[in-house]
Amino acid sequence: MCHRPLPYKFNHSCVVILGIESSCDETAAAILKDGKILANVVAGQAVHSSYGGVVPELASRAHQSNIVPVVHETLKKAGIPGADIDAVAYTQGPGLLGSLLVGSSFAKSFALALAIPVIPVNHMQGHVLSLLLENTLTFPFLCLTVSGGHTQIVRADAPLKMKVLGETADDAAGEAFDKAAKVLGLPYPGGPLIDQYAAQGDSKRFHFPKPQMPGMSFSFSGLKTSFVNLVQKMSPEEKNASLNDICASYQAVIVDILLSKLAIAVNTTGITRVAIAGGVAANSGLRSALKEAEKRQGWEVFIPSMRYCTDNASMIALSGYYLYKSGITGDQKDTSHARLPL
Ligand code: KG4
Ligand code: ZN
Repeated sequence: MCHRPLPYKFNHSCVVILGIESSCDETAAAILKDGKILANVVAGQAVHSSYGGVVPELASRAHQSNIVPVVHETLKKAGIPGADIDAVAYTQGPGLLGSLLVGSSFAKSFALALAIPVIPVNHMQGHVLSLLLENTLTFPFLCLTVSGGHTQIVRADAPLKMKVLGETADDAAGEAFDKAAKVLGLPYPGGPLIDQYAAQGDSKRFHFPKPQMPGMSFSFSGLKTSFVNLVQKMSPEEKNASLNDICASYQAVIVDILLSKLAIAVNTTGITRVAIAGGVAANSGLRSALKEAEKRQGWEVFIPSMRYCTDNASMIALSGYYLYKSGITGDQKDTSHARLPL
């Protein structure tokens, strides 16, 4: 990405951005006009369900077959001709390299054909900005981004000014859900299923140790190991009979860890505007714990609707919109990165 005089005719009003997201197992496209969503299309990839996780090679292939129909449908839903698009924003990283390359190659070709700029976007920045898709949120705010690959507490001072205050030293919160689900024999992604079973379970029945991590740092690998140890000691009958309670107890400890770290972030920064983003933000236990904190602790809480928690291209197009408005674009030589710091 570079800050440089633009070679393109730059549009300052009525900016239309096409966003492309392909960092993991969702092929997504969206069109935003002046930051407002005209169309948002997401194609999931059922192909991974029996593997307990995303298989990178299968994900790249699924993106390849999905990307053209998904963009086509997005254009149709938005009801605008391709010629009205001012720039194409795409996820540059972090993510699975093969998957990222499908999205970036498509975005570059599309932009080249229309002689418009491409805008590489950081996926994690996109998750934080997903909060602005539906809410009028005043900066600064704190955002807990919890997804399948990341767990971060971010301080957002402006759309393009963010700082990671703390993150996980090992597994992400979503991974903790997915790996536990795999041990229970549930299909990928296991997070939503654990959430469903947990709703009918007793969260106090099983005890899982909370990791002792300093400040705003997270760790979930020890928790996962204690989960595996508990479940492996059970007979299949015992496991089935206790499924709801196992899920409820496990989910409760994850939510507890996330909330206690958020409380540290609020106390350290003095910022009480608190948001969550990323796939795990769809978790009903986390959502209600946050609403509870809003009542008890006086936080001002912001939670995206479900479809903007999980990966989508509206958040990428919105990031692209802010970059475009600041005169920041990329070029055809930009490369994708599996790891990309915020
Ligand atoms: O943000 P996302 O769609 O993709 C990544 O960037 O990783 O997040 C996917 C993650 C998966 O680990 C999935 O199990 C988890 O979000 N997830 C949930 C729920 N819905 C999705 N975890 C717990 N409860 C849910 N309801
Ligand atoms: Zn994500």
